[in-house]
Amino acid sequence: MAGNDPALKRWAILKRPYGAPLPMTDHAFQHCIIPACGQSYAVDDVLFACRKCGALLDVRYDWDLARPPDTLSFFDARRAAATGRPGTGPDSSGVWRFRELLPFARDDDLATIGEGRTLLQQADELAAAIGIKPGRLFLQYEGFNPSGSFKDNGMAAAFTIARRLGKRRVACASTGNTSASLALYAHHTAAAGQQMEAVVFVGGGKIALGKLAQALDYGARTLQIEGDFDTCMELIQRSAHRLDLYVMNSVNPFRLEGQKTIIYRVLEGLNWEVPDWIIVPGGNLGNSSAFGKALVELRDLGLIDRLPRLAIINAEGANTLYELYNDHHIRFDGGKVGHHTADAYFAMIVAEGRSARTVASAIEIGRPVNLIKALRSLEWLSGVVEQVADEVILDGKALVGRYGYGCEPASGASIAGLRRLLDTQVISPTDRVVCILTGHGLKDPQVTVAYHTDRRPPAARAFPNPPVAVAADIEAIESALSK
Ligand code: F0G
Repeated sequence: MAGNDPALKRWAILKRPYGAPLPMTDHAFQHCIIPACGQSYAVDDVLFACRKCGALLDVRYDWDLARPPDTLSFFDARRAAATGRPGTGPDSSGVWRFRELLPFARDDDLATIGEGRTLLQQADELAAAIGIKPGRLFLQYEGFNPSGSFKDNGMAAAFTIARRLGKRRVACASTGNTSASLALYAHHTAAAGQQMEAVVFVGGGKIALGKLAQALDYGARTLQIEGDFDTCMELIQRSAHRLDLYVMNSVNPFRLEGQKTIIYRVLEGLNWEVPDWIIVPGGNLGNSSAFGKALVELRDLGLIDRLPRLAIINAEGANTLYELYNDHHIRFDGGKVGHHTADAYFAMIVAEGRSARTVASAIEIGRPVNLIKALRSLEWLSGVVEQVADEVILDGKALVGRYGYGCEPASGASIAGLRRLLDTQVISPTDRVVCILTGHGLKDPQVTVAYHTDRRPPAARAFPNPPVAVAADIEAIESALSK
């Protein structure tokens, strides 16, 4: 039985009983993201929006009390534990080895299953294929996480707080990866002998099979809701209180604290040098939000001396941020953000009966919950928002498959977006660029196989590699190989 395995118990560092006193709240608190509101809440206050003004919340720290390291090279010593010589403690988690930069919990409380052991990869072949100078393109492969996506970074943090709050029923709405990650962490928590039920809301027929398989396999109660992600997200927010569900989507600000560590690992991979660009697909806009916060905190702490620029890439069929930012010119504007413009936009979408549609099902989202936080990141990081068509996303994904480790369609949007930003000369071939690859290539094999075997004219696909049907005969194989 997994629950009796002491190694597993150590893996998930789950020693502290549920709801034990919260000794760390003296320097961590929740804070409204709108500066003019400025309302603060305790760490153990369960809320996902400001009670005063309704805006999203950040987890903030009194850094004078938290006392972070005064140089990022402080973290170098821990790197070996997380990569070459895996162990089971917080130092071997790619999230918690940076715990001084997200100090909302004590070491004994930290939940981990070995997330974030991902490394930045220099991608010279891919760079050559898309016209970037050698040594200037890097891929941050978050598909190498335990559940195969970047979500595990956030889930380690969210489970830490969920357990500390004594929650036994955690839930999310998902396009697939959040549900897979939530299910895996709940499963490990239960395996370590602590009750934890995972409830996931997924859009019926909307989720890639690899992700659905994970939620089912890890034992989550999987509700296939009639409707899409936006419907699921709205339902979970409305029903959480009544159904006693603790919401683990990225409206939970602790999730985003974990996702900040993606940026720490990027910087670590560049010997703590800041790149020129970070490119990330945009769906619910959690990563974009977390990255901005991570970088500005580092700058404000004097740990980096400049900020990179951020490019958020929407799929054309799920381009809310693109339209609001580029067509309607909505900006964070120091917190004076034009809610009315966004509300009018969403009313228009409903009136037109539009819903998000893209082959990149992970980012098939029309109403991103972190919209305002992402606008703040765009302001902080002089960001741009681009949109890319499904065919171009699939070509981007195929390029990563050929010259990298493969990724799922949504991650292909990073490469597709980079190609577009090179074409429009927003990014130069000599810029140092980091593309975030958010999910593993095996999450959505149906899309990959369809891309390579599609009977449509090859013009629709730049890099097809169809399988060849051959008779069970050596001459036939020889002939096939000679072509
Ligand atoms: N890439 C992948 C592979 C994703 O699964 C997601 C989001 C994104 C990109 C977008 O990230 O929300 O931070 O902008 N997936 C969520 C889910 C919505 O339910 O798995 P974001």
